[in-house]
Amino acid sequence: MQNFDYMTPTRLIFGKDAIKKLPEVMANFGKKVLLTYGGGSIKKIGLYDKVKELLSDKEIIELPGIQPNPKYDPSVLDGVRLCKEHDIDVILAVGGGSVLDCSKAIAAGAEYDGDPWDLISYKVKAQAALPIVDILTLAATGSEYDCGGVISRTETNDKIGYMDEHLYPAVSLLDPTYTFTVSKKQTAAGCADAMNHIMEQYFCEDTTLLNDGFCEAGLKSLMVNARKCLDDPEDYTARAEMMFACTLGCNGIYALGNSPSGWPCHGIEHALSAYYDITHGEGLAIITPRWMKHILSEKTVDRFVKYGVNVFGIDSSLDRFEIAEKAIQATYDFFGSIGIPMHLKDVGIDESRIGEMAHHIAVNEGLENAYAPLTESDIADILTASL
Ligand code: NZQ
Ligand code: ZN
Repeated sequence: MQNFDYMTPTRLIFGKDAIKKLPEVMANFGKKVLLTYGGGSIKKIGLYDKVKELLSDKEIIELPGIQPNPKYDPSVLDGVRLCKEHDIDVILAVGGGSVLDCSKAIAAGAEYDGDPWDLISYKVKAQAALPIVDILTLAATGSEYDCGGVISRTETNDKIGYMDEHLYPAVSLLDPTYTFTVSKKQTAAGCADAMNHIMEQYFCEDTTLLNDGFCEAGLKSLMVNARKCLDDPEDYTARAEMMFACTLGCNGIYALGNSPSGWPCHGIEHALSAYYDITHGEGLAIITPRWMKHILSEKTVDRFVKYGVNVFGIDSSLDRFEIAEKAIQATYDFFGSIGIPMHLKDVGIDESRIGEMAHHIAVNEGLENAYAPLTESDIADILTASL
């Protein structure tokens, strides 16, 4: 078991009517609030009006229109400018992972004098960030409980996972009822994203019985509850368990004491959504089984056996490689069964830029150090197999 140094300073307020605590929460910060949100879903579900009503004593400046795969230009730059112009005290992010991620980059940029890209690209280390409070409306990324934000820069095809300990939200308000309106497509993509977060922590060299148990339970919970959410979008219990499983998925808690895995599927998918602006969870679902197939070897087979037997109930008396193949097929079949398009061609990606993307990933993602090391040619093979 490896050493670790762990802290998540975020206060989670979970459950129906969590929003009632918003005034109390916001009273801990100043009067000037930057309210960030996406393309309008929070208005449709009445959350925007509710927030304005509960915070009527605050001075609220708004940054609307944050897109999925949030963009550095204009959203991060506009947000930083607004924070500086209005001397903002706290950011209130209301939405899915994209709104939260963008708000994190804004929070750091607002406390930095230079170009915020210096921070996101790790050229300069942030010394401070504005506090962030969020109200989550989509279960997927775990951004509500981690210190990362993923930002896209269109002109360079970069999509960078920016992590810094200043970026943990101070408070995350998690009311599953706000996720009732999430579409089937985004519910399935959210499930695939959170499942892959767990897999990225499960498939590594050094693990513990404890962590493997957490991961296996997390995967089973996500599969069962995502199906229930798709069958009945207003099933509170299923939405709640899915939300909590997603919240725990990405802040590293499932891998404390494990050796690093390199997060290879994320390294590959971030390029797909940078080049083609696809939905992150769908890209992951497409890549994951092809990556699994590619890395299956004498070195990795026992992890697949454990995964197959404990997550999918595959017969443990079968040959090890047969179990592994069945586990990979079961992963593919599950994603397909919840309605995810399972080929890159289905999401508008053909072979024309595979070489370019593989090169970009190999140069930027450090996957030669992953649990199963990936060269540029391995990455190109995985992408080609995903077509
Ligand atoms: O923009 P609005 O109108 O709000 O609509 C959004 C958006 O179109 C909609 N939506 C959100 N809540 C809704 C809703 N529609 C109906 N009812 C609701 N309650 O859903 C669409 C997708 O939203 P988005 O925020 O993009 O989805 P998600 O939460 O999956 O976030 C994806 C982004 O997070 C990054 C991804 O790369 C991607 O950019 N990630 C962030 C991570 C992190 N911070 O730790 C880790 C992940 O691995 C991931 O990379
Ligand atoms: Zn993800």
